Amino acid sequence: MTGPRIVLVGPMGVGKSTVGALLAELLGTDYRDTDADIVAAQGREISDIFVQDGEPYFRELERAAVRAALAGHEGVLALGGGAILDEGTRALLAAHPVVYLSMDVEEAVRRTGLNVARPLLAVNPRKQWRELMDARRHLYEEVARAVVATDGRTPEEVARAVLDAL
Ligand code: S3P
Repeated sequence: MTGPRIVLVGPMGVGKSTVGALLAELLGTDYRDTDADIVAAQGREISDIFVQDGEPYFRELERAAVRAALAGHEGVLALGGGAILDEGTRALLAAHPVVYLSMDVEEAVRRTGLNVARPLLAVNPRKQWRELMDARRHLYEEVARAVVATDGRTPEEVARAVLDAL
């Protein structure tokens, strides 16, 4: 079937864009991510879409962006960290080579810290990370063909592990 060679899912800050770009280089193909597609199409930042129109509206835009990218891109694709929350988006991912990049909560806090540009983590990052991971872990696992843990690994090591896992 046509479509992306690899689809990366996982929480924000796990390294989807860094690893995705590396994978694209290793495979001699292009990297694309649906967050960037949405920002380009909307002409505004994702945090503005959340504030101005709310998360449900963003998830609709995201589902459309994922559908378009799965149909039109044959390289490496990364999805936003919350894309798997939407049932319709999860259904679109069936039959695609989806890899879940995982990290534990302490690693997440270390990597993203108090990054207020990420709207879902503005206050009490450790508690919010724990809740976010508890709510999402099973959904990442549901859509993924392979899980690659990133804790303590460099992006190069993660990229190799992704190739080995598929
Ligand atoms: C989100 C993750 C972000 C972006 C939006 C919502 C989430 O993507 O789509 O801010 O719900 O986890 P990244 O995972 O690329 O940061």
